[in-house]
Amino acid sequence: MKVLFYMPHSDAAAWLHDFARALPDADLREWQPNDTAPADFAVVWRPPREMFAGRDDLRAVFNLGAGVDAILALERAHPGTLPRNAHVVRLEDTGMAPQMAEYVTHAVLRYMRRFDEYARLQAEHRWQVLDPHPRATFTVGVLGLGVLGAHVAGTLAALGMPVRGYSRSAKQIEGVQTYAGEAQFDAFLDDVKVLVNLLPHTPDTNDVLNARTFGKLAHGAYLVNVARGAHLVEPDLLDAIQHGQIAGATLDVFREEPLPPDHLFWREPRITITPHVSALTLREDSVAQVSHKIQALLRGEAISGVVDLARGY
Ligand code: NAP
Ligand code: GLV
Repeated sequence: MKVLFYMPHSDAAAWLHDFARALPDADLREWQPNDTAPADFAVVWRPPREMFAGRDDLRAVFNLGAGVDAILALERAHPGTLPRNAHVVRLEDTGMAPQMAEYVTHAVLRYMRRFDEYARLQAEHRWQVLDPHPRATFTVGVLGLGVLGAHVAGTLAALGMPVRGYSRSAKQIEGVQTYAGEAQFDAFLDDVKVLVNLLPHTPDTNDVLNARTFGKLAHGAYLVNVARGAHLVEPDLLDAIQHGQIAGATLDVFREEPLPPDHLFWREPRITITPHVSALTLREDSVAQVSHKIQALLRGEAISGVVDLARGY
């Protein structure tokens, strides 16, 4: 069985070494431009279109992340790019859910306990007590209740704050008030104090973090975007911050990554920026999950995590 690997800016030798241990019978190679030799499986992150040219031999394309937007964007821009017979398979958790819960919880608590404001007061050597946010009305809304969103929502609920969650299909999560479908979107947003985005990026969710959405939240709400930069209408966020509708934001993802040095977000002190690190792909967990799925497919068994191409995630 032949496996192609492609992950730019990674330690490819280490990945291939770990895959070789997990799949001792596999013939593994890092894909290089013009490599059209046969392959059964591809393990990729943000692959170039030419990697798939004429590759109807592939049985599955394993994405080394949860979000498959980059792969599906290739297919949307150039229909027929994806190998005809291959499943596209996303990573399911592989250690990302706890990382995401840590990151989001940190951002939510930082805003709730007013740490950024105290840091500004400290810089001015000012000893001043700020009114706490009342817990009972400190509603956190989590957009997306999939593998990551459901874990994040459950973690926040366990801290005792009111938590809402929004998804396409109806869900039940202990301690979380759930909303589903467009008809319930405004009710979900109503008076939310912190909006956390964990939606996949699809044509339906593009630009979902916009002026209209911000206007439905509580005045002075906080935004945490850990999903994709293309969810956010950037000028709408800056405008909402300038007018006080949004108090600030923690952003891990951006329309252009790396965020250009002259981007206005760098100059807005109420925006906290991290470089797409809220939930990293962990090599050991990912190799184990992908290898198990390859072995299952070879035995003719069904696997989970197969992307619905029409739905886009
Ligand atoms: P997932 O398991 O596919 O879950 C997606 C959730 O979004 C599901 O609950 C789904 O609803 C909901 N959804 C999708 N389209 C919707 C729509 N139009 N309206 C309402 N709800 C919709 O994804 P995941 O594993 O939780 O990951 C979410 C995203 O996080 C990824 O796609 C990726 O972009 C991002 N991510 C970022 C990082 C980072 O480091 N920044 C790391 C990992 C992932 P249903 O449940 O009803 O289908
Ligand atoms: C990272 O952004 C992922 O989608 O896993």
